[in-house]
Amino acid sequence: MPLFPDYIIREVAEKNDIYDVVSQTVSLKKTGSSYIGLCPFHNEKTPSFSVSPRRGIFKCFGCGEGGDVIGFVMKNENLTFYEAVSRLAQRANIQLPEIKQKDAEQAKRRKEKSDLLHAINKDSAEFFYNNIKQSPQAVEYFKKRQLDARVVKAFWLGYAPDGWTSLFDYLKDKGYTESDIYDAGLIRRHESGRYYDYFRNRIMFTIFDANSNIIGFGGRVLDDSKPKYLNSPDSSLFSKSKNLYSFNVARHSKKPFVILCEGYMDTIALVTAGYDNTVATLGTAIGEHQARLLAKNFDEVVICYDSDQAGRTATNRAITVLRSQSKLKISVLDLKAKKDPDEFIKTYGKDRFDMLLAARKPDMEYLIDYFGENYNLKKSNEILSYIADLSEYLKLVPTQIELDVYANIISEKTGVQTSSIIAQAGMRKSGATSKLDSTNTDVINVVNKGSLPTNSKEYLDKTRALLLSTLFYDSKLFENYRHQLDISMFESSIHRTIFAYIDECFKKGEKVSNTMLLSRFETKEEINAVSGILAMDVQSDDTAHAVSDYINQIKQKAGPEMALQLMKEGKISLEEFNKMINNKG
Ligand code: GTP
Ligand code: MN
Repeated sequence: MPLFPDYIIREVAEKNDIYDVVSQTVSLKKTGSSYIGLCPFHNEKTPSFSVSPRRGIFKCFGCGEGGDVIGFVMKNENLTFYEAVSRLAQRANIQLPEIKQKDAEQAKRRKEKSDLLHAINKDSAEFFYNNIKQSPQAVEYFKKRQLDARVVKAFWLGYAPDGWTSLFDYLKDKGYTESDIYDAGLIRRHESGRYYDYFRNRIMFTIFDANSNIIGFGGRVLDDSKPKYLNSPDSSLFSKSKNLYSFNVARHSKKPFVILCEGYMDTIALVTAGYDNTVATLGTAIGEHQARLLAKNFDEVVICYDSDQAGRTATNRAITVLRSQSKLKISVLDLKAKKDPDEFIKTYGKDRFDMLLAARKPDMEYLIDYFGENYNLKKSNEILSYIADLSEYLKLVPTQIELDVYANIISEKTGVQTSSIIAQAGMRKSGATSKLDSTNTDVINVVNKGSLPTNSKEYLDKTRALLLSTLFYDSKLFENYRHQLDISMFESSIHRTIFAYIDECFKKGEKVSNTMLLSRFETKEEINAVSGILAMDVQSDDTAHAVSDYINQIKQKAGPEMALQLMKEGKISLEEFNKMINNKG
């Protein structure tokens, strides 16, 4: 990690007890050697958030979030790594080194600039809002769309006047510079060098980030001209792929699911009708970053896109993207004949919408019906195309049980055997990175080890994780068993990195630090998975016996076959291969 030397980061992590820090905001109850409470990172009623002071790790078994004390502060207070370390250093009275003053200043300048851009956007939102009363056509438009004064105010709606420099002049009068106004995405530069307003003669929708800072706008024409919408350009401040309309409201909703729709108007109609848990993308298809954001805050996403063909295609795409979040439930709401949620609510009201909501279908059931409409399932060649279409989605299903359920439904509709459908979905999955591949899954969430077939890959990976977790916290044990251990016993890159780290510390005679280990991983998924391993509760009184057991199991079960595989993939050398084959524990 940049900015701070390792020794400082270690000291900060060591001197801030994770229990003390977490318990300031989360109420924790003791269970065994760890503590448990309601997860602050997702909505839940039964506690699945666990904190282990001995290991310095937190892990939520519901949403998967995990990490060390620094990671907790970052997530909980929405801070950067640098800010979290500074905060914790202060808390523990640790003097941070002066040498990095320059970086700190740079960070401070960046923060000041984004504060300034937020302020410019906020002034602009007020300008657009105050402009409504001066423009009869805007007042008329809001009336036509049934947006009353209360709604207009709550959503910071507004009107961008028809002049070339109305907003530009207003902001300059307020003392902002041309270049700052430009950076806020509110003016364009003409070839002549002159600047003019980005939004002209449009109904304005104010876009907030998760913390309710104003980061941009969507502007709609008042008639049928094109383009219908214009959005603020992407910038350091505003990213269409990372934000969602009304997410700042939805994230505080008590409801466990979120309604995802296409448009600003849809969101406003639903929120106004009482669904505070509604968001929309910002004129682009939903992306993985947004999917992660939703998965972090909700158990389920209800896709509620327009009922036209474009909306249906977008629905299928959204299912694919949202399925990247393995713990997220996904369902689809069918608007029947109405065009979009806005029109539906305005025509039929909330009660009828509630009925649609109650009748929403799980994503795969929706797809089974959706593709079913395209084919005549009495004809064998059409059945084949039908199953081929569905396989593209079935391959996204993460568990065997879920796959079985859907394969059974398809089997009943087509007469094709369940096992063939599963095989087809499996066949299509190879090649792509699939979630059924256990090296990618969060090991801790693999079903209870006892119930896994002992020769399965999951079982072996869980054994490897248990071995690593035990060795990580017991350097004596690591030393005693070092001669029996080898990196080739581990397959996934996560396991290999953990092993290499423990080994490095052992060779240097250094104590392991989960903070240092976590800093070797970049993605949130990896950090959560590693935290899951570190948080594993190895229930054994005789850890030495357990370790030798794990080692034997890995060597026997995975032995020659794994060695061959690893060599084929170029992960081990011939020398390592021979060593593995001949050393059976
Ligand atoms: P109304 O037609 O006024 O009800 O608005 P809507 O939000 O329902 O519009 P629509 O269903 O046509 O589009 C859904 C969303 O797609 C909008 O809210 C915009 O975010 C985006 N969008 C629509 N048209 C355009 C466009 O021309 N350009 C861009 N960038 N985005 C658009
Ligand atoms: Mn619409």
